[in-house]
Amino acid sequence: MTEEAILNYDDLFNMLDNLLREPKEFWEGFYSNRDKEIPFFKIKGPDENLVEYFENGLKPTRVLEIGCGPGRNAIYMAQKGCKVDALDISQNAIDWAIERAKEDQVDINFQCQSLFSFFFEPNSYDFVYDCGLLHHIAPHRRLTYLEVIKKALKPNGYLGLVCFNTDGAVDTSDWEVYRAGSLNRGIGYTEKRLKEVFTKDFDIISFRGMKKITQPSEFFGEEFLWTILMQMK
Ligand SMILES: C[S@@+](CC[C@H](N)C(=O)[O-])C[C@H]1O[C@@H](n2cnc3c(N)ncnc32)[C@H](O)[C@@H]1O
Repeated sequence: MTEEAILNYDDLFNMLDNLLREPKEFWEGFYSNRDKEIPFFKIKGPDENLVEYFENGLKPTRVLEIGCGPGRNAIYMAQKGCKVDALDISQNAIDWAIERAKEDQVDINFQCQSLFSFFFEPNSYDFVYDCGLLHHIAPHRRLTYLEVIKKALKPNGYLGLVCFNTDGAVDTSDWEVYRAGSLNRGIGYTEKRLKEVFTKDFDIISFRGMKKITQPSEFFGEEFLWTILMQMK
């Protein structure tokens, strides 16, 4: 095959991936030192919005958490009786999550996998949860992200999302990511931009800023994040 040819959409997406940093290497480095001053490194508790969803009656049986990191939210959902599959591209993050789940004596199927190569039974999850992954996904891969989530969810399944608002990161345009060859430290989303991404396929049930939770607390919350609960159309 001619080198660097674009003969199909996979070739095109691979070429665009190649313009940006390799995510696995970056995230392994990110988790190589657990003592860093990263808000969710210090806090073991779940997102305040996730707790609210459960308290308001969300009762999923099968859950997929994508980009689970050290497992805060997966552990909470398992404690609530859910059967949880949780994946992350970083082995360092998954090792940490397994240690925490053992300490808390919960059984979770943690897998070191990219969302984009994760093998799953289609239409098998009641709820997909993402805290902090979407804003690190390249714009072209957002299309793959949506396809994977839609395929993973059961009809009328729910998607919970936490992602940077424009205080969390710069509202870099999709085109600018490729001109600069960088996602910087993530994309800051406006409400309008998030709604453009999701409302074709999802009905919005709740859309609000995350509440700041002063630590120490059982819960996690930072004001530079959006929280959204959606239901697949
Ligand atoms: C900001 S962190 C959030 C971690 C965790 N959800 C939390 O809130 O504690 C984003 C996570 O996404 C993971 N990640 C990045 N790209 C990924 C991909 N393509 N597939 C799966 N996980 C990915 C990173 O390794 C990282 O753990």
